Amino acid sequence: MIALTFITRDGDAVRTEAASGETLLQAGQRAGQPMEGTCGGQMACATCHVLIDPAFLDRLMPPLAEEEDMLDLVPEATRSSRLACQVRVTSELDGLTARLP
Ligand code: FES
Repeated sequence: MIALTFITRDGDAVRTEAASGETLLQAGQRAGQPMEGTCGGQMACATCHVLIDPAFLDRLMPPLAEEEDMLDLVPEATRSSRLACQVRVTSELDGLTARLP
């Protein structure tokens, strides 16, 4: 299993584990995080927006143009923003921290 930490909007650290191949959205929802995932991973809602620990950004698959277009519409997006439905958890990401905006 791959260790992940979500930082809540209140600043609490919620530790969880995910299987390789799951999305960060699936792992976050299972850990009780308020990530709606309204569009079911179609890159159309941004309710799964998270801020990735910059130390891990380069280990993620780069975003598709559709993901970047969606993030462009998110006011609080930063350079470390990703749509959690598009981030596949791999062993490379062991120890990753993602903050809810
Ligand atoms: Fe809608 Fe990720 S679930 S963009």
